[in-house]
Amino acid sequence: MTAILVLHGPNLNLLGSREPAVYGRTTLAEVDAAIARHGEARGVRVDCRQSNHEGVLVDAIQQAAAQGFAAVVLNPGALGHYSYALRDAIAGVDLPVVEVHLSNVQAREFFRHRSVIAPVCRGQIAGFGLHSYLLGVDAALAVLARG
Ligand code: DQA
Repeated sequence: MTAILVLHGPNLNLLGSREPAVYGRTTLAEVDAAIARHGEARGVRVDCRQSNHEGVLVDAIQQAAAQGFAAVVLNPGALGHYSYALRDAIAGVDLPVVEVHLSNVQAREFFRHRSVIAPVCRGQIAGFGLHSYLLGVDAALAVLARG
């Protein structure tokens, strides 16, 4: 069975209470449950993990293929705007990574307009709330189906 790793970066553990006007009231546990249901409906195994630590995310990306994952769906949080370590980790592994954001980062503060990981990801989905993750899983599956 195809397995996809979903990674949530810094502060996404606070979903539900964090800036609800921007991110809504849905908790991370509810997001993960929706992603799991979505994966089940598509016959893929989805493993969701969250970390506030750049190095933990780098390790997860480096180890994803060896752990049996075929693709990564990554919400890097703010790290996406400046983390060259995350960028290099993605560039250094041979599996597709799809960047996702809950909010429409292009419609927000200027510093959120830039993603330093976008050039090494297969694509970016932003602005659809928790559906960004579901679209991200579908995008990863489309990339894998294309071979
Ligand atoms: C975010 C957007 C980032 O700019 C922000 O730092 C986050 C969440 C999103 O999902 O919309 O932590 O990645």
